[in-house]
Amino acid sequence: MPNRKYIVGNWKMNGLQSELSDISGIAAIAAANPSVDAAICPPLTLIASASSQNPAFAVGAQDCHYNEKGAHTGCVSAAMIKEAGASLSILGHSERRADQHETDAEVKTKAEAVHAAGLGAIICVGETEEERDAGKAVDVVCGQLEGSFPAGADANWLTIAYEPVWAIGTGRVPEASDVEEMHAAIRSALGRLMGDGADAVRILYGGSMNGGNAAELLAVPNVDGGLVGGASLTAAKFGPIIEAAAAA
Ligand code: PGA
Repeated sequence: MPNRKYIVGNWKMNGLQSELSDISGIAAIAAANPSVDAAICPPLTLIASASSQNPAFAVGAQDCHYNEKGAHTGCVSAAMIKEAGASLSILGHSERRADQHETDAEVKTKAEAVHAAGLGAIICVGETEEERDAGKAVDVVCGQLEGSFPAGADANWLTIAYEPVWAIGTGRVPEASDVEEMHAAIRSALGRLMGDGADAVRILYGGSMNGGNAAELLAVPNVDGGLVGGASLTAAKFGPIIEAAAAA
């Protein structure tokens, strides 16, 4: 079992230079809780400033292209986000799977590109409410995991985030028993995909995690951390989640 919790903030399309002080505040709380791995993934425009102002703190991207360079207007490569100061990237977030029509195959190649550049990858999977109501949640999530699973996967650089789409930004959180069932299913799927190394891969829960529910969610078996959106935007909200992970 992974023994260090991993708490990652996903700022999505939020944050201007004037909000960089929040990242510094979060970095200070992370430094005070060295038993936890913490990171913030701000918009691309803040990566360079956030990482240069907080050199000991992990800053990540929210996406990157699978090619090294070329004619892909508006996209950035793994080498580019790395040069800006990122040490990881979120990949295949459900908002990108929905809004940018990202496929499992693209997420897989993006993860391989990120790894080739020496960065960490967090691959997101999660079912819609309709899929859960139809009893298909585990099949959908394990299918996404298999389809998005990169070559050369290793716990040193790969993390999985289970994020039920209906729990993102809604304030709704699944029952602990449902989170436990899904994380166990993901752990088993990882075992089929990569053998013994599966036990060390961290599986994060994401979707309306906050300072009030983090301790309960982080106590669920196979929940090795959290991917946090809204509650990662300020040090006041994100700090208690890092502290809950330190106490877990
Ligand atoms: P949320 O977002 O914490 O605002 O629900 C989580 C995510 O989408 O990563």
